[in-house]
Amino acid sequence: MRQQGYGVTVWFTGLSGAGKTTICKFVENELRIQGYRVEVLDGDAVRQNLCKGLSFSKEDREENIRRIGFVAHLLSRNNVIVLVSAISPYREIREQVRQSIPSFIEVYVNASLEVCEQRDVKGLYKKARSGEIKHFTGIDDPYEIPLRPEVECKTNQESVTQSATKVLKKLEDLGYIVASNELFIS
Ligand code: ADX
Repeated sequence: MRQQGYGVTVWFTGLSGAGKTTICKFVENELRIQGYRVEVLDGDAVRQNLCKGLSFSKEDREENIRRIGFVAHLLSRNNVIVLVSAISPYREIREQVRQSIPSFIEVYVNASLEVCEQRDVKGLYKKARSGEIKHFTGIDDPYEIPLRPEVECKTNQESVTQSATKVLKKLEDLGYIVASNELFIS
C-alpha cells in the first residue's frame, strides 16, 4: 500500500437510475489506482446480506441506512475511504448518519425522474408504473432532496468522468486525498 490516507465516508444519494453506482465505481477505481484503501457499500448488494429481509417501508429504509452508516463509520475511522451508494430518500436519517460520522461528504446524484425513468436500467420504473412494484421511490414513494450536499452531480448534463472528478476534487480540497498530480512529488 503506497499510502494510508484519511478515512472518510462519501455518501451518494439519489433516485434509482440517477447514476450513483456508476459514479461510485469510477471514483473507486481512480482511488485504488492512486493507492488508497477503498470500500463500496452499495444498496443493492448490502440488501443481499447485511440488510437482507428489510423492505422498502420508511422504517426499513431507515434501518437500512442506519446499518450502512454504522459499517461506514467503522471503516472510515480505520482510514478507509467508504463510498456508499444508496437511495437514502429520507433527509432526517441522512442527517443522523452525517452527525454520527466525523468525516462525511454527501453527494447528491441528481437526475430528474423523467431521465431516470427513461433510462430504466433495471426495468423497475416500468414495473412501478404498472403497479407490479409498490412504494417505488419517485413514483409512489418520496425522495427528499438534500439541502446542502457537499457535491451535486447533475448526471443528465455531465459525463461520468465529470461527475466523478467533482467528487475527487472535493476529496482533495478537504484534504482526504492528495491531488493526483502531486502523488509522486514528496
Ligand atoms: S434505500 O431507499 O433503502 O436507500 P437502497 O439504495 O438500499 O434503497 O435500494 C434501492 C434499490 O433497490 C434500487 O436501486 C432498486 O434496484 C431496488 N428496489 C426494489 N424495490 C424498490 C423500491 N420500492 N424503491 C426503490 N428501490 C427499489
